[in-house]
Amino acid sequence: MRIDSKFLAGIRRQFPAVSADPAGRRRAFLDNGAGTLVTRRAADREYDARVNWSANVGNLFPESEGAGETIREGRMAVADLLNAEGAGTIISGESATSLLFGLSYAFGREFTGSENVVTTGYEHYTNINPWVELGSNLEIKELRFAEFDKDTGMLDPGAVQELVDRNTKVVTVSAASNVLGTRTNLAEIGKIARDAKAYFIIDAVHHVPHELVDVRRIGCDFLVFSGYKLFSRHGSFMYAKPEHIRKLSPYKVLPSPKRGPEKWEQGTRDQAMFAAISGAIDYLAWVGRPSTKRPPKPGKARRTRLIQAFKTIERYEKELMDIALHGKGKTPGLNDIPGLRLYGPSNVSKEWERDPTFSFNLRGYPDRALSKKLWDRYRLAVGAEDYYSRVPAIYKKKTMLRATFVHYNSKAEVLSLLSALDDLARRKK
Ligand SMILES: Cc1ncc(COP(=O)(O)O)c(C=O)c1O
Repeated sequence: MRIDSKFLAGIRRQFPAVSADPAGRRRAFLDNGAGTLVTRRAADREYDARVNWSANVGNLFPESEGAGETIREGRMAVADLLNAEGAGTIISGESATSLLFGLSYAFGREFTGSENVVTTGYEHYTNINPWVELGSNLEIKELRFAEFDKDTGMLDPGAVQELVDRNTKVVTVSAASNVLGTRTNLAEIGKIARDAKAYFIIDAVHHVPHELVDVRRIGCDFLVFSGYKLFSRHGSFMYAKPEHIRKLSPYKVLPSPKRGPEKWEQGTRDQAMFAAISGAIDYLAWVGRPSTKRPPKPGKARRTRLIQAFKTIERYEKELMDIALHGKGKTPGLNDIPGLRLYGPSNVSKEWERDPTFSFNLRGYPDRALSKKLWDRYRLAVGAEDYYSRVPAIYKKKTMLRATFVHYNSKAEVLSLLSALDDLARRKK
């Protein structure tokens, strides 16, 4: 399938807030890297769970049974999204940050203080501080950063290999940088981790709306992502290999279950979070076969539709990236706007794998002032922050502007950003 203008209009109808802000002002929403808009199916299912299945699980009346069923279905939907072994491998948490801290506490019980953790130079602090804390508690010796090429924004897996030795117990990487957009070579780095017999962890928070991940093909031990970056609401999920769910000992209260993902979850669950994520995943399955309104059956049928959906999404996002980088017609791309400095891959191809995330500064404009101008004058929602990432500091910047496109964005929206930036650049000449 291709996303043409008719299909795009159908997709956009699935996002009530796609064209206008809460005050009804037409705008282009380009801050998707900080959190995507919510799809109608996620919001509807959340409402249903909030109102109908509000009881706690484990009892015999409908509100409680429905709550349990909602949670099971949510785990199953996430398992289909990730091609995990089953619902029992999906742990939920408040955020990706809290899930990785929880995982680090479990590792802390196993490690002796001589181990090291290897990560990349472009991580979000979510995938840094849990390991820093292990160091402060003397449960590991060192956290090592494999640095990326500052000119291209690309990470050579060889840089990871160089840091790995027999004391490496964890290799943990983001699937894509939330600032540079660079995609990490998960296949090669996964192999490096396996050869070293280290745990391989993936932070897929930024990457998850752009490519369908397959935890079994990649062979990772853990993977985290967050619903609010995938057309749903806050609340996050962590895949863990079945043996790790069984063998590791997370912090828990005594009476809580001793097995399964529940062993890893702190406190009672919010079933509405599971309802919402299953709505978002069924929305994505609909993108895979838009001729059918009925949600697919869980399992293979849903996975097949998700594979189709992400083929469609990736192809379309590549078109958006090409326009963003190289422009179209008379409109220059980010590579060509005078005074604009783009960070990260300036190309998109097999060798330059990237997500549609573009961070930049524009000469003559302080970042926050530019973000405000883009909103006030052009109605473009683009953030200016540090994104809790190591990256801005590496380039000696406090902040950067960042536009992230997802598949509900139109080519016209990409072009409107380019022409606004070009317009502003020319005023400063
Ligand atoms: C790559 C990456 N990791 C982690 C996070 C934080 O996720 P959460 O807010 O669910 O803890 C973000 C949020 O921007 C992110 O982009």
